[in-house]
Amino acid sequence: MRFTNICSTVLPILTTLTTASPSPSSYSTSKIPPRPNLTPSPYTTGLEFPCSPPRSAHKKCFVAPVSTSADRDDAPAIKAALKKCNNGGTVVLDKSYLVSSPLDLTFLRHVDVVITGEIHFNAKDVYYWAENSFKYDFQNMSTFWKWGGEDVNIYGDLSNGKSVIDGHGQKYWEEIVTNKTLFRPILFSMDGMKGATMSNLRMRNSPNWFNIIANSSDILISDLDIQAKSTDGVKIANSDGWDTYRSNNVVIQNSVIDNTDDCVSFKPNSTNVIVQNLDCTGSHGISVGSLGQYANLTDIVSNLYIHNITMALASDFVRIKVWPGVASLFQENLNGGGGKGYVRNVTYEGLVSRDNDRAITITQCYGQKNQTLCNEFPSELRIEDVLVKNLRGTTSKKADPEAGTLVCSAPDRCSNIRVEDVDIKVPSGNTTTWECMNVDESLLKINCVASDGERDTTNG
Ligand SMILES: *[C@@H]1O[C@H](CO)[C@@H](O)[C@H](O)[C@H]1NC(C)=O
Ligand SMILES: *[C@@H]1O[C@H](CO)[C@@H](O)[C@H](O)[C@H]1NC(C)=O
Ligand SMILES: *[C@@H]1O[C@H](CO)[C@@H](O)[C@H](O)[C@H]1NC(C)=O
Ligand SMILES: *[C@@H]1O[C@H](CO)[C@@H](O)[C@H](O)[C@H]1NC(C)=O
Ligand SMILES: *[C@@H]1O[C@H](CO)[C@@H](O)[C@H](O)[C@H]1NC(C)=O
Ligand SMILES: *[C@@H]1O[C@H](CO)[C@@H](O)[C@H](O)[C@H]1NC(C)=O
Ligand SMILES: *[C@@H]1O[C@H](CO)[C@@H](O)[C@H](O)[C@H]1NC(C)=O
Ligand SMILES: *[C@@H]1O[C@H](CO)[C@@H](O)[C@H](O)[C@H]1NC(C)=O
Ligand SMILES: *[C@@H]1O[C@H](CO)[C@@H](O)[C@H](O)[C@H]1NC(C)=O
Repeated sequence: MRFTNICSTVLPILTTLTTASPSPSSYSTSKIPPRPNLTPSPYTTGLEFPCSPPRSAHKKCFVAPVSTSADRDDAPAIKAALKKCNNGGTVVLDKSYLVSSPLDLTFLRHVDVVITGEIHFNAKDVYYWAENSFKYDFQNMSTFWKWGGEDVNIYGDLSNGKSVIDGHGQKYWEEIVTNKTLFRPILFSMDGMKGATMSNLRMRNSPNWFNIIANSSDILISDLDIQAKSTDGVKIANSDGWDTYRSNNVVIQNSVIDNTDDCVSFKPNSTNVIVQNLDCTGSHGISVGSLGQYANLTDIVSNLYIHNITMALASDFVRIKVWPGVASLFQENLNGGGGKGYVRNVTYEGLVSRDNDRAITITQCYGQKNQTLCNEFPSELRIEDVLVKNLRGTTSKKADPEAGTLVCSAPDRCSNIRVEDVDIKVPSGNTTTWECMNVDESLLKINCVASDGERDTTNG
């Protein structure tokens, strides 16, 4: 199905727009790059994306920083511009801004937001954000700001050296060394968004996940450059590139991610998601889950297509992580198990692995080190119709000669898991092995060896 970024029919809204009074644009003379013409490529979910009509040439809101103070708050000015140019206009953020208070931006409708400047989140007081961020029940998460509404295009220009959203994560990573339950905000949250694109932006040093796409549908992400770097060796925690949650019809593509946790993670109720053409370094893989964390809840993840991914120096590459059928204590602020549901119709294809610890990890014992216990209380969340195809490259010496593990908690908890066309070399040059348990080995075109019952796949 075609992706229609430009509308073929003129919507009524255009007529009202041309009569909207122009906002003063005397503040800035910088050129506004045109909205990128984005298409999911080469794959689409098969579901239609709504069209996004062009914005009015007369409705542009340039935002001026409120002062030059190093402790100012530009959040109210940003929100005012979004209110003013909502419904058919363009907001231009071409200066350097400091956001020092939370922003609820869930009222958006037919608006473009051009970020060719810099957006910094004030990190003077990490406890200010612990108190004032938006909180989510899911996995104890929080966020600086949340973006929602309908028909929104957020973009920058990667060639201008700026176009950056910076979370200044360093202070949060340092603080969690002594306070593991500190709320650290997600850098960008789409929450309740229907029809949006986000493209050509840099994202730096998120205190937590870089992006959550929650309660949303019809989202296209393209050409992002994501990086988390610690200046003093302190551990960077939970720096996932994207987490999708309760969302449908999402495409994430053409991006470079350098982080220390999942490159992309499909959380509960992620359906019809394509991830393609990514270059990930340092991560925990392209991960389904974790799922089944919440007892009495049903998590569904289905129809994922993951294509043309290069993964380097990660703990895992292809990854499906499911909590056991029994409650387990994992980390101070991350515990669970016993949830129901399924993972179904997931394909990973065209994968280049460079020195990752494991090229494939499938577990139903997430957050629990005792596999015997997991087998005693098998996962209530089934894994079905998974295909891993055309996977090549190398793994690190960590598990040499083993290149991955495919371990289900009982034979009836996984079905139709297929692995084909795999060529993974281990550093010793010995024959590559794979640990397999409770899976149909006739469908795995890899060298399975019996499980030794010991592994360390609890990472992140
Ligand atoms: C850790 O941070 C949380 C806020 O996220 C706060 O409620 C708690 O008091 C802090 N704990 C310590 C030991 O400072
Ligand atoms: C998603 O929607 C639910 C229900 O409205 C809300 O409680 C939740 O905070 C939203 N966002 C996330 C990330 O869960
Ligand atoms: C996920 O979808 C299932 C099935 O529709 C529903 O029962 C469950 O409540 C949903 N979970 C969340 C977190 O929205
Ligand atoms: C695969 O993705 C990379 C970006 O990581 C891109 O440069 C390359 O062109 C893609 N290959 C194909 C065949 O699309
Ligand atoms: C799950 O449901 C059972 C039965 O209704 C209840 O006893 C239990 O407390 C629930 N568990 C959670 C974590 O909500
Ligand atoms: C499996 O998922 C892919 C990718 O979203 C989709 O194109 C395909 O139609 C799905 N197959 C089934 C049987 O649902
Ligand atoms: C959230 O964090 C609290 C401690 O701050 C912990 O007791 C609880 O188990 C966490 N919830 C989840 C779902 O991990
Ligand atoms: C693992 O779980 C089994 C079954 O519950 C138990 O017998 C065993 O003691 C546990 N092992 C460890 C190391 O805790
Ligand atoms: C590789 O094989 C050789 C010969 O069997 C053995 O001595 C060595 O320990 C193996 N190395 C690894 C990492 O398995």
